[in-house]
Amino acid sequence: ESEEFLAAFQARIDREEKIEPNDPMPEGYRRTLVRQIGQHAHSEIVGMLPEGNWITRAPSLRRKIALLAKVQDEGGHGLYLYSAAETLGVSREQMTEELLSGKAKYSSIFNYPTLTWADIGAVGWLVDGAAIMNQIPLCRCSYGPYARAMIRVCKEESFHQRQGYEIMMTLARGSEEQKELAQDALNRWWWPSLMMFGPSDSESTNSDQSMKWKIKRFSNDELRQKFITATVPQAEFIGLTMPDPELKWNEAKQAYDHGEIDWAEFKAVVRGDGQMNRDRLRDRNKAWDDGAWVREAALAHARERAENQQI
Ligand code: 3HC
Repeated sequence: ESEEFLAAFQARIDREEKIEPNDPMPEGYRRTLVRQIGQHAHSEIVGMLPEGNWITRAPSLRRKIALLAKVQDEGGHGLYLYSAAETLGVSREQMTEELLSGKAKYSSIFNYPTLTWADIGAVGWLVDGAAIMNQIPLCRCSYGPYARAMIRVCKEESFHQRQGYEIMMTLARGSEEQKELAQDALNRWWWPSLMMFGPSDSESTNSDQSMKWKIKRFSNDELRQKFITATVPQAEFIGLTMPDPELKWNEAKQAYDHGEIDWAEFKAVVRGDGQMNRDRLRDRNKAWDDGAWVREAALAHARERAENQQI
């Protein structure tokens, strides 16, 4: 690609123009979007597993209905994002194959187990809360299809976060045992939720270029800080203790100082050595195999309809 072409493209980005599928774009821009949107889509699909684990065991019909709706939403977000990635020339089959073979990344957070019902509250409150922090700026991403997909996703995420926080509030205000469940869930989900924002800026290999191309509007650490600043008061409001003794408001910084994130754990989970990585891939592969008959039937039906239309 010539310097002129790259400069002209960057000028479009700097003018806040939206890049559309048929526009000329640098191969690096296309490739990093396929990488990020694909991983985002995989995250939505794998993210259905930890929550699906509690659909049959929700403590009330109301909780079950909200959880069913949330898991269904996540499947739809995956569909949206796979479709956005397809506009960049990658096929659904190829992305699926990369996920099922273990080659593709998805968000580390979904490799943690949901051990009690309180985890469903913590996941909605913290994981979807973190996802909202990260996805709101993506509504202004320079690539049109991704930005537009995010607008609908963010509206649904707000419901996910609210229903999760309401579960935590109910438990925290319930019996001593229920409050302990909520505290235990916060203790186990807090640090992995901070890791969702990615490595620290100094370790972030893609950030510089992604920010230049306005795919990323804030750095990993900036968004992580926004999430901490928004979430700590919510924990305090329901009387839960943050599992970080070094967490302290820094008036000068107008932000929280916090303890060191366990980056060795983060790297291990991203590498595939988390608590549930193998289970998640096994479940996804089983779902794919079990669903083969549906794909074959749909293809046979489509072929028959096409043949009938030719007659
Ligand atoms: N889990 C797994 N891999 C991660 C990660 C995480 N939490 N954070 C970073 N990584 C990977 C990156 O993919 C990159 O590897 P790669 O070059 O092989 O892709 C490497 O670590 C270095 O990180 P960078 O900061 O350089 O990578 P990015 O610039 O891509 O930033 C990101 C990482 C902030 C997660 C960015 O990719 C992003 O914003 N993605 C879209 C949003 C997303 O995926 N959100 C999380 C899951 S979706 C969700 O939670 C849905 C909700 O409904 C539950």
